[in-house]
Amino acid sequence: MRSTVPAPTAAGFTDPELAADFVRRFHLERPGGLGHRPRLRQVMDEIDRTGTYEHTAEELAFGAKLAWRNAARCIGRLYWRSLVVRDLRHLSSADDVAEQCFEHLRLATNGGRIRPMVSVFAPDRPGRPAPRIVNQQLVRYAGYPAPGGGWTGDPAGVQLAARARDLGWKCGEEPFEVLPLLVQERAGAAPRWYEVPDDAALEVDLTHPEHGWFAELALRWYAVPAISDMTLEIGGVRYPTAPFNGWYMGTEIGARNLADADRYNLLAEVAGRLGLDTSSERTLWRDRALVELNVAVLHSFQEAGVTMADHHTESQRFLKHVAQEKRQGRPTPADWSWIVPPVSGGLTPVYHRYYDPVDPSLRPAFVAREPW
Ligand code: ARG
Repeated sequence: MRSTVPAPTAAGFTDPELAADFVRRFHLERPGGLGHRPRLRQVMDEIDRTGTYEHTAEELAFGAKLAWRNAARCIGRLYWRSLVVRDLRHLSSADDVAEQCFEHLRLATNGGRIRPMVSVFAPDRPGRPAPRIVNQQLVRYAGYPAPGGGWTGDPAGVQLAARARDLGWKCGEEPFEVLPLLVQERAGAAPRWYEVPDDAALEVDLTHPEHGWFAELALRWYAVPAISDMTLEIGGVRYPTAPFNGWYMGTEIGARNLADADRYNLLAEVAGRLGLDTSSERTLWRDRALVELNVAVLHSFQEAGVTMADHHTESQRFLKHVAQEKRQGRPTPADWSWIVPPVSGGLTPVYHRYYDPVDPSLRPAFVAREPW
């Protein structure tokens, strides 16, 4: 049947085996429609003729949901069926991508009631690679080397800030400055940059329910974590521009972004304000400061009416998801070291067990994006 099977690795070509696996899975879980065999024949014919094939809208939506369900590092998978999938496959110019990424942020923010969402732009096709978003997330903060050593802002945003500056972006060197969106249309082409409109990036000022001084730290964080540097792979088709978001779990901000030594590194400052004895590790000043930082994050998002999960609740939800999947006869591959929260691990039920093994070849999936 297939005389000219393209090399599976060639850019934009679709591996027919991956396509067949997906068509089978689709019809297994979503009976009805055209039926498995006729659709498989269509897909194989299309791959023979063009090197790839086009998903139906239903296949795209289902494939994106499966990619979330298969994400071994994600604790938030209970809601995989509710993913909102925006079908933007007809768009591939940098201007359109940027405009629709900002619209994604507005729709996902939803006035604070965060909606899990993915926007799927044009896939890679033979001889026609899709555009790429350079940023790791649609919203993230810039970082700059500080005059006296160390950093201003987010050290994780130093590289992108430098790159954006080279392209002509003017920055204020503020500690929480939203990076522009960089979109590259072709390999080797200079990215275009777009300032994220204020109304697209909701941010929350951080306060503490008991400590008034906390507001003086002038900390903030953005509402929507939207990953933009992973390829969505469905049935052998690669969508390198498919930014997706869920809602935050408090510890991502309170125990990592603001606390990690190579991020905002704020524990010593918080401990000082709390009046803790920092002369010895044995006073557990780091741990005590960390808890108060996390209290502030959860409190502030709640006050602002922005969806955020705490690690206790999200852990329980995850085990509910595992049990639900088991009843469907499906495994839930999970990476323990990503699932267990970075504070109070042993207080959460996800700590006290192991999970189905992670299979890196499982598809559909969000995968690390390969260079052009
Ligand atoms: N940990 C990342 C951050 O702090 C976001 C990863 C995705 N998180 C999520 N809740 N969907 O920005």
